[in-house]
Amino acid sequence: MGNNSKIIKGNFIFTPGFGELKIAAASFIVIEGKRVKGLYRQLPAGYEGSLVTDYQDKLIIPGLVDLHAHAPQFANRGMGLDLELIPWLEQYTFPEEAKYNDVVYAAGVYKKFVRELWQWGTTRAVLFGTIHKAATTRLMALLAQAGLGGYVGKVNMDRNSPAALSETTAQSLADTEAFIQDTIDRYELVKPIVTPRFVPSCTPALMSGIAGLAQKYNLPVQSHLAENTREIAWVRELHPECPHYAGVYHKFGLFGQQPTIMAHCIHNDAAELALMAKNKVYMAHCPYSNTNLASGLAPVRRCIDSGIPVGLGSDIAGGHEVSIAKVMAMAVQVSKLKWLISGRQEPFFTIPEVLYLATKGGGSFFGQVGSFEEGYEFDALVIDDSSLAVAAGNPFTLADRLSRFIYIGNDKNIIARYVAGRKIEEPQF
Ligand code: GUN
Ligand code: FE
Repeated sequence: MGNNSKIIKGNFIFTPGFGELKIAAASFIVIEGKRVKGLYRQLPAGYEGSLVTDYQDKLIIPGLVDLHAHAPQFANRGMGLDLELIPWLEQYTFPEEAKYNDVVYAAGVYKKFVRELWQWGTTRAVLFGTIHKAATTRLMALLAQAGLGGYVGKVNMDRNSPAALSETTAQSLADTEAFIQDTIDRYELVKPIVTPRFVPSCTPALMSGIAGLAQKYNLPVQSHLAENTREIAWVRELHPECPHYAGVYHKFGLFGQQPTIMAHCIHNDAAELALMAKNKVYMAHCPYSNTNLASGLAPVRRCIDSGIPVGLGSDIAGGHEVSIAKVMAMAVQVSKLKWLISGRQEPFFTIPEVLYLATKGGGSFFGQVGSFEEGYEFDALVIDDSSLAVAAGNPFTLADRLSRFIYIGNDKNIIARYVAGRKIEEPQF
């Protein structure tokens, strides 16, 4: 065995397919470099005598993926949630994001935010920064320092935005290209992503320009789509020439021409969903945000059934929970409300289904991430759920123990975290 390899023992639980729970009790995983070599009941020949990290009766699950969060809104969690999207952005979000012109302020909050990602077991995250190049570059450095994986976007905004959060089209394009050049080769696991805030914030010239940058540097794209009915009516007024909201992004080269994530996707029509499926545009489902901002209950099952790739997002601060485990439980709960109001038509989610969305579903945006199959980058959480046991000898099955961790566990149950084969410790910043 190479000296670049390690062996870990425990109870592995993961989802090779949507809703397909695979449980490998008391098994060994062999990791070569950053990737899984194999998962075995008995150590294969050649590995006898190798050092094994034995996590005994603990659960080991893939690291959790947050496909959509706004790092600069961390300080706004739990505020302004008596408002819907547009007034919430104007009264709470934009004034807070304007402060990120100050890199010292930004670094202070970003350190706390990145620490919480680590704490709650998020191993990969796709993040919005702000329009500010310096602060957003700092956020990437902090993620890399923590050993987490991620895509981070310098946000673009050149219309319908307050003065303190407005760029000229030319400045926005120049800063975005400088940001890309500065960060694209700097870290192995943290990369830039092209980030138009949403259609109302970006002129056609800006959308075309950044689509050109995404193509030139072969970068992914993230934005928001069909979150709120007033937002959708506004986009229709701004772009009467387009058949629908998704069509605006598509027209300007921001809808799957490069790998793309759209957050929310609550109110899309059938044509938009078909375009998402055709272009393999990811939906980031954010159930806390759906309810906090009273935006609506996203038709997630329908999206999955139409072939749209789906992952889960915290949408900090539309959502108030950093924990993707809590987001999983909320996704199940929201799906049950959807099931009830659909006349019990659209089946609600099961734990194996939301575990898939939180791991391999969102992880696939990063490549081979989110599973313990051979070739996958080894991202994992080791869960000590002994504090959740109620009787000696723990009578629960492994599947029930997983479900209990998701619903009633917390960060203290996570006793080790791995990203791309490396154990990552609490960030010291
Ligand atoms: N749409 C445009 N910007 C935002 C944002 O910051 N949060 C949410 N939830 N939706 C948005
Ligand atoms: Fe968002």
